[in-house]
Amino acid sequence: MNNSERPIGIFDSGLGGLTVFKELRALLPGEDLIYFGDTARVPYGTKSPEAVRSFSKEIASFLLKKKIKLLIVACNTASSLALDEIRKLSDVPVQGVIQPGAEAALKAAPPGGRVLVIGTSATVNSRAYSRALAASGAGVKVTEKACPLFVPLVEEGWCSKPAALMAAREYLSGFRGKADVLILGCTHYPLLKRIIARVMGPRSRIVDSARAAARSAKAALEARGLLNRARFGSSAFLVSDAPERFSALALKLLKIKTGKVAVKRF
Ligand code: DGL
Repeated sequence: MNNSERPIGIFDSGLGGLTVFKELRALLPGEDLIYFGDTARVPYGTKSPEAVRSFSKEIASFLLKKKIKLLIVACNTASSLALDEIRKLSDVPVQGVIQPGAEAALKAAPPGGRVLVIGTSATVNSRAYSRALAASGAGVKVTEKACPLFVPLVEEGWCSKPAALMAAREYLSGFRGKADVLILGCTHYPLLKRIIARVMGPRSRIVDSARAAARSAKAALEARGLLNRARFGSSAFLVSDAPERFSALALKLLKIKTGKVAVKRF
């Protein structure tokens, strides 16, 4: 098999990375994609950095054995805590979601503008976005806010229920009109985008780290001459638990037809 024909591996703690998968599928129709959701251990955002690193390395090693050409860490929590360690064990490029998300926010923000990052507690505590944004030297003012109830709401399929709006109000109404750009710093959050936009109001531009990551993955493959020019790529889904539930929610929330979802337990 020539290198460009090898699949792309993608993983997240659960369903959230499917927002990256969906963008990738649209941008790169010829690629074979293998998605892994760690449904037995979701959420990552409330776990310790050590646990997130250990889970992420296990999954990365598993996907690397499938002879992938690119590994996408479609989880902000794992990207903020484990990217360097995953890169050490990988012989193929590893792409996270933080850097592309930060770059997209800088394009959308006015000079010296106010950027609000929302993410899991682990992502916010890691300050990974603050560091990435500061490293650009653009002088934006960054605030980070953890929204820990958002992931369980999405994993429950409650993206447009009143409970989701209540949680969004609780976390974000104090920021209404006070952020030029809001980064959805968790790949589950694009599924709550409508509710988040409603609470933030029309003055805040919303940047989706999932979309930014998919674009950056395409650019990385192009730069290395690794794009698969086939007409239709395959999609394979694996989870660490409850495959039927994953499949039903993928269809309900993202209109993704997974077919049979395989189980890999660690
Ligand atoms: N979707 C993930 C993220 O981007 C993880 C959420 C979680 O498992 O807590 O951070």
